[in-house]
Amino acid sequence: MSKMDKIQKRTLYILLDMYSSQINYYRSYKEEKKMAEKGSWHFIPNQTHIVLKTFIALRDYIEKEKIWSVNSIYNSKFLDAGCGIGNILVMAKHAHLCEHIYGIELSDNMIKKAKEFIAPHQRANSRLNGDDTIHIDKANIMEYDNYGDMDIIYYYCPLRDFKMEMKFERKVEDDMKVGAIVMASFKQDYNIKRDKRFKKIKLFKHETEYSMKVYIKIKE
Ligand SMILES: C[S@@+](CC[C@H](N)C(=O)[O-])C[C@H]1O[C@@H](n2cnc3c(N)ncnc32)[C@H](O)[C@@H]1O
Repeated sequence: MSKMDKIQKRTLYILLDMYSSQINYYRSYKEEKKMAEKGSWHFIPNQTHIVLKTFIALRDYIEKEKIWSVNSIYNSKFLDAGCGIGNILVMAKHAHLCEHIYGIELSDNMIKKAKEFIAPHQRANSRLNGDDTIHIDKANIMEYDNYGDMDIIYYYCPLRDFKMEMKFERKVEDDMKVGAIVMASFKQDYNIKRDKRFKKIKLFKHETEYSMKVYIKIKE
């Protein structure tokens, strides 16, 4: 690695740490009790460097393997199920993972904070075309009926109740369309490994428990 590469790498790590500190500021321990009563985790941000690395690797994979047509790339939709303040939505937008970025969240408090957090990252010319790039809606991930419209569905273990989390993961897998990708942190239901409807996308040589599990739906 050249001296310039080393400087660039260190600069990137410093910037990612700064982003992580900013996000952690929004963690609220009051939320914890409220969300626990619903069987949910409160807002705990995923690790910025792992998510970003995976997003970039996945974007390169989609381009290299030509798994989507050019037309579907331009209309592609990303969803974070349980988006908290929108930290992942901002990363997905800047990594150019999909054209349209969606987040759903149950907590009103988080939605309020998310709207502030994402404001500087909205499309610069949104006043011209009247369309923001990042959309956040209040919805319960267990009842959401739009998974079938998404091209990439991301989540970071939103439910602390194990049975509910298993039910949610199964719902996503059943509802998503063929050609769509699911990327999960701390996935609880491993039946997907034996599910013939899915193919694993291996983005890195070595995986740890923190690595995201990425699958593409290949048939109904
Ligand atoms: C572990 S945090 C993940 C935050 C962010 N997606 C990330 O990866 O950094 C889980 C989020 O899911 C939300 N959540 C939990 N249960 C939910 C439900 N039933 N419907 C919608 N959102 C939910 C929580 O409020 C919290 O913001």
